[in-house]
Amino acid sequence: KIINVVLSGGVGSRLWPLSRKAKPKQYLPIFGGKTLFELTVERNQPLVSKVTLVGSIQNTDLAEPYLSKFNSDIIAEAAPRNTAAAIAFAAFHADPDDILIVTPSDHLIEGEEDYQQAINQGIVFAQEGYIATFGIIPTRPETGYGYIEHEGNTVLAFREKPNEETARDFLKKGSFLWNSGIFCFKAGVFLEELMRFEPKLYSAAETAFEYAQNLVLDEEHSLQIPSKSIDYAVLERSDLIKVVPAKFRWSDMGAFDSLFTYLKEKGHPVDENGNIVVGTTKHTVFVGLSNCMLINTEDAVLILDRNRSQDVKQVYESLEKGN
Ligand code: GDD
Ligand code: MG
Repeated sequence: KIINVVLSGGVGSRLWPLSRKAKPKQYLPIFGGKTLFELTVERNQPLVSKVTLVGSIQNTDLAEPYLSKFNSDIIAEAAPRNTAAAIAFAAFHADPDDILIVTPSDHLIEGEEDYQQAINQGIVFAQEGYIATFGIIPTRPETGYGYIEHEGNTVLAFREKPNEETARDFLKKGSFLWNSGIFCFKAGVFLEELMRFEPKLYSAAETAFEYAQNLVLDEEHSLQIPSKSIDYAVLERSDLIKVVPAKFRWSDMGAFDSLFTYLKEKGHPVDENGNIVVGTTKHTVFVGLSNCMLINTEDAVLILDRNRSQDVKQVYESLEKGN
């Protein structure tokens, strides 16, 4: 069987106040009337016979009506324990020989044929016992991504979230790709690698999954699981990683700078200084400001220098803490 594992755990804190805990960014119908989550499921349907969503219990209800149209199930997490654990749950739920196509639910991908071609190549690697990643040609020294040093499909090194200086070096060298965050492997292969590199995480995740009732995990056992991403837990360490250089257009709708690029391309008005307004039709004027965004929602307004898009996360975090 080939299964699409859709990860939907993050709150999308860098898109606050558009993205909220109760309604994270992947469930906002702002991409041609569809949500990123729907677009993700749709894109993978021709390749798979089943879809498994792994997501927070706080918002799996937002996915349910749409998912019920497909052969699907939902693993609901009581507490987010990051991607290594989230993927492990899906792998425990599958047969060891099932092939998992793991996809984030918050990316925008264009070029369906190129996408399917790349994934099919990944499936071949997965069948051979490898962990396939999909590499994107980097365009800036982004520090929020993983970098894959490669020669063809061979991975020489995987480096998650380097600092800016290192990222600049990588770009200069020219032999690095961004990790798209999409993966393809046999469930059993992933679990073996996880057990090898993170035995504690593996067994805590296994226990939590065993105690799940109807695929709903409980908080008590979930909180025992170390919170680590698949990138640090497995990809940086495994010798089984392959990369498929991707031809499709990919963007991580992680922060407002990506959303800006998307909106601009779709013809959303931008003033002559690169300022943009989202969420209101009120006449808005920027004086003496450039590359700014005004994000209006019912109960909160964000005014942002686009070059500081990554810092919105800190705003969200301090609101969470209540200061
Ligand atoms: N179910 C579940 N549970 N999903 C989760 C959890 C969790 O605890 N934590 C994160 N996710 C989901 C997010 O919703 C997202 O769809 C995906 O897993 C990746 O998590 P992010 O938190 O967005 O990771 P990142 O952006 O910092 O880094 C990853 O993606 C980059 C590309 O966008 C890494 O794989 C990088 O190497 C990669 O370049
Ligand atoms: Mg991300």
